[in-house]
Amino acid sequence: MKVLATILVILFSNLLLTSANLINYSVLPLSITIPNPERGFYVHRETLSTGVYQALTRSDLSNIKAQNNTLILRLYYLHAFLNSDISSTYLSSMQTDFNNVRLTGGIKLILRFAYSNSQTNSGIWDATKAVMLRHIAQLKPLLTSNADVIAVVQAGFIGVWGEWYYTNHFGYPRPTAADNANRREIVDALLDALPRTRMVQIRTVKQKQDMYSRLTPITLAEAFTETTISRLGHHNDCFLQSSTDSGTYTNVTIDYPFLSQETVYLAMGGETCGVNEPRSLCPTATYEMELFHYSYLNQGYERNVLNSWRTGGCYVTIQNRMGYRFELISSFLPSISTISTPFSIRFTINNSGYASLFNKRMVYLVLRNTANNQEFSIPLRTDPRFWFPGQLTVVNESVQLPRSIPTGNYRMFLNLPDLYTSISSMPDYSVRFANNGLWEPRTGYNDLNFTLVVRI
Ligand SMILES: *[C@@H]1O[C@H](CO)[C@@H](O)[C@H](O)[C@H]1NC(C)=O
Ligand SMILES: *[C@@H]1O[C@H](CO)[C@@H](O)[C@H](O)[C@H]1NC(C)=O
Ligand SMILES: *[C@@H]1O[C@H](CO)[C@@H](O)[C@H](O)[C@H]1NC(C)=O
Ligand SMILES: *[C@@H]1O[C@H](CO)[C@@H](O)[C@H](O)[C@H]1NC(C)=O
Ligand SMILES: *[C@@H]1O[C@H](CO)[C@@H](O)[C@H](O)[C@H]1NC(C)=O
Repeated sequence: MKVLATILVILFSNLLLTSANLINYSVLPLSITIPNPERGFYVHRETLSTGVYQALTRSDLSNIKAQNNTLILRLYYLHAFLNSDISSTYLSSMQTDFNNVRLTGGIKLILRFAYSNSQTNSGIWDATKAVMLRHIAQLKPLLTSNADVIAVVQAGFIGVWGEWYYTNHFGYPRPTAADNANRREIVDALLDALPRTRMVQIRTVKQKQDMYSRLTPITLAEAFTETTISRLGHHNDCFLQSSTDSGTYTNVTIDYPFLSQETVYLAMGGETCGVNEPRSLCPTATYEMELFHYSYLNQGYERNVLNSWRTGGCYVTIQNRMGYRFELISSFLPSISTISTPFSIRFTINNSGYASLFNKRMVYLVLRNTANNQEFSIPLRTDPRFWFPGQLTVVNESVQLPRSIPTGNYRMFLNLPDLYTSISSMPDYSVRFANNGLWEPRTGYNDLNFTLVVRI
C-alpha cells in the first residue's frame, strides 16, 4: 500500500512538472512614459530660511505628479542659521513638506542643504564644521522618520549651492588632507543621520576617492551591503558642459571607468548646465547616461541643452530610460500545485533603463482567489536591485504555498511595493513593469496573466 502511494506521488509530481506553461508578454515601446518611483526627470524646488518659506504645497505636488514627475530636488538654504541652531519653526515647515509629499503619493525627494546661493558674498559661503554637525544632529530625527519619502540625499552643506567648491571652511580652491578629513566628517555624520537604507551622493569622483582613500570602484560583492563605501553615490551638476564637465572630472582616463563601474551599484544623477556642442547634443548625452547609469536629471535646467535634446529627438528616450525600466518578457508558471509541494516559477526581465534600483525593494508573488478575492502574498528571494540594465535577468525560484491557503483557483501577480510600510500599500509607490495590460492601478500589482489551481 505504502509502495503504491509512493508511486502515485511520483506520478503526480511528474504531472505537476509537465504542466508548467510558457507565457509571453507584450512590452511597451520606449516612447511610452511610465511614472515609476525614484527615477526620471526631477523638478527643482528650493526655499530660503529668511522671508517667506516656499512650502511644497499639495496643489504644486499634484501638478508635478500629473506631469509624471516622481522626483523633486528639494533644496533647503540654511543661511539664517549660520551661527545658530535651525529654528523649530523651520524644522516644522520641513516636516509639513514631507507630510504633503507622502499625502500626494508617488513622489520622493532628492534632498540637499546649503548655506548660500551666490558666490558674490564671499564671507558667507557656508557654516563652520561645528555648526554643520550641530545642524545635521538636529535634522537626524526628521531624516530618519521621513526616509520613506526621501529617495536619496546629496552631500551638500559645504560651499555655495552645497556644491563643494566656493567654501569658507573646507579648503578653497583646493582642499588639503586636513580639509578632506573635515569633509569626510560631514559626510559620515550625514550617513549616520539617515537609515542605512539610504545613500548620499558626492559631487565628484575625486572627492569620494580623497575622503575615503580608495581608488578602486566598489565591486559586486560590496554592492548594497550598507557599508559606508556602498552608500556613497555620485551626482554631476554640470553634465556635458565641457570636456571635464566644468571640473567634475579631474582626469577622464581615470574617472570614467571608475564612475561607470560604481554607478552600476550606486545612485547617479544631476543636471546639465550649459550648451557645449557637439558634446551636449543627443549622441554623447545618451551614450554617457547609459555609461554612468543615470537615474535622474533636472527637467528645468539648462533649458537650451534640454531643447537641443527635443529637436535632436532623444528627449523622450532619455525621459523614459532614466533609472530602471523593467520589461517582463516571459514567465514559466505551473497550472496546478498541491499545498504541501513547492513549485517552481521562472520569469525573465529585461531592464531597458540606464540604471538599476538603488533603494531596496522586495518582490512578492501574490495569489488572488478568483472566487472571493482573498489574497496571499509570498516574498521571493530575488533582489530587484540586481536586475541590472543592458541584460536579461532570469528569476527562477521554488515557491512554498502558505499552509493556510484554501484550495481553489488563484490569479498570479508580481508586487514590488515600497519597503516602508508607511507607503507600501500606496500603488503609486510600487514598480510598474513596462508592459501592455499587466498593471493593476488599484493595487499596484503586475498581472502575470495566469491562474494557478491549488489542490490538497
Ligand atoms: C503620464 O503617464 C501616463 C501613463 O503612461 C500617460 O497615460 C499620460 O499621458 C502621461 N501624462 C503626461 C502629461 O505625460
Ligand atoms: C590621466 O591619467 C592617465 C592614466 O594614469 C595618465 O596617463 C595621464 O597622463 C593623465 N592625464 C593628465 C592630464 O594628468
Ligand atoms: C532589452 O532592452 C534593450 C533596450 O531597449 C533592447 O535593446 C533589447 O533588445 C531588449 N532585449 C530584449 C530581449 O527584449
Ligand atoms: C530552475 O530551478 C529548478 C529548481 O531549483 C531547476 O531544476 C531548474 O533547472 C532551474 N531552471 C533554470 C533555467 O535555471
Ligand atoms: C493574457 O493571456 C491571454 C491568453 O490566455 C491573451 O490572449 C492575452 O492577450 C493576454 N493578456 C496580456 C495583457 O498579456
